[in-house]
Amino acid sequence: MEKYILSFDQGTTSSRAIIFNKNGNPVSVAQKEFKQIFPKPGWVEHDPGEIWSSQISVAAEVVSKAKLKSDDIQAIGITNQRETTVVWDRETGEPIYNAIVWQDRRTSDYCDFLKKEGHEEMIREKTGLVLDAYFLATKVRWILENVLGAKEKAKAGKLALGTIDSWLVWNLSNGKDHITDVTNASRTLLFNIHTLEWDKELLELFKIPESMLPRVCDSSGELSMTSGEIFSKKIPITGIAGDQHAALFGQMCTDKGMAKNTYGTGCFLLMNIGDQPIISKNKLITTIAWKIGDEVNYAFEGSIFIAGAVVQWLRDGMGLISSASEIETLAAKVESTDGLYLVPAFAGLGAPHWNQHARGTIVGITRGSNQSHIARAALESIAYQTYDVVKAMEADSGINIKELRVDGGATVNSLLMQIQADILNTRILRPEITETTALGAAYLAGLGAGIWKDIDEIKSKWKVMESFNPNDKIPVQEMLEGWQRAINTTNCWSKN
Ligand code: G3P
Repeated sequence: MEKYILSFDQGTTSSRAIIFNKNGNPVSVAQKEFKQIFPKPGWVEHDPGEIWSSQISVAAEVVSKAKLKSDDIQAIGITNQRETTVVWDRETGEPIYNAIVWQDRRTSDYCDFLKKEGHEEMIREKTGLVLDAYFLATKVRWILENVLGAKEKAKAGKLALGTIDSWLVWNLSNGKDHITDVTNASRTLLFNIHTLEWDKELLELFKIPESMLPRVCDSSGELSMTSGEIFSKKIPITGIAGDQHAALFGQMCTDKGMAKNTYGTGCFLLMNIGDQPIISKNKLITTIAWKIGDEVNYAFEGSIFIAGAVVQWLRDGMGLISSASEIETLAAKVESTDGLYLVPAFAGLGAPHWNQHARGTIVGITRGSNQSHIARAALESIAYQTYDVVKAMEADSGINIKELRVDGGATVNSLLMQIQADILNTRILRPEITETTALGAAYLAGLGAGIWKDIDEIKSKWKVMESFNPNDKIPVQEMLEGWQRAINTTNCWSKN
């Protein structure tokens, strides 16, 4: 009987499910968007009930679309939007507040306060993270401080906390398992990435009772089991990882020095740094890539806030194009921007610049500048920002990135991929299957269920669709100098 893996990809704006066969090919896909809740400026929430119901309904849909039965599904893999935080009542299974989403900024001031108190260095050393509202700990603390009776219930051991993987497994196992995998744990500000344990000092600092925490498990193996009520038979859950970690695995970046970039609204660039955590000197995050058996892999991560969103801005804000795909044709009308630079710091600058006060800038406009120059400058800005993160990673790790594996919506833009290859002076590889996140979860699950015997067997399934090689006729040095000046201008202009 053919073996199938059901992959759950619970993202920020939609829940998706994909079935993969044992060759690692997708068989069917289903997707459902859910509500984004913005109670106040800077606040972003999701309804945990809707996350669960949308995820389970796409799972059922994808099985019937593929004309399969639960019996045909050998394993489930879960990948999820990271950091988004749910606190629920252990007895009733009911959340006590909406999920606070990773983008939510309500705890920024509290983070600033902790920085002033001098906790930043200790946190960085232990967790590999920057002290920022992005991660789970300050969100949980906010819920405990602001939901009536929460603190008392938490002290009495009646509440559970978790990222979305925990929430899904809790529901899939009907409240039997309260677990999270190491990759998700490494996004909480509570997990020591050296000892691979929850850290007592950090729990005390954020005033989070230990009883709320999930048990930390590997990213692959026999992790949990669906309860009898979910599908017509119990299905083992054998893979769990945060989405960017799953994408790194889905790109088979399993050796030290291998890197992937996901081009979405922003970019998430991750580089495998091997089995030792290196704390970055260039403001990158150190995170756990995955843990399989006794083997732990670590990664550097750099986030770029605005990538594909700059194209959306040209479409929706500027009306320069009517669909995102038009940017390629418009930008290709010119061979260079003729010295025009666009720094899309619409939401500040992320890694490695980290200037939350920065705002977008266009410099170098001449009488001859036109729409095509701006379109090309927008694409180049994505490639330059990626360059900045790659250089920081190379400096921190002492490893040169030989090739960059890419995925995400914007990778269909071949001009952008060529520009990226030119600017990085590195080969860009676009894989056959670009559903990399779900694929990574399926790989982890397939490995955990014994469908594939080891990583080498999976490697043979991963295939390149297209590669982009750098063109050495492009005056890259000059272009990079201009970009650096544009970044300096952006920083100079910002209020800080
Ligand atoms: O860290 C946040 C990230 O995991 C969200 O990913 O793809 O749901 O926007 P995505």
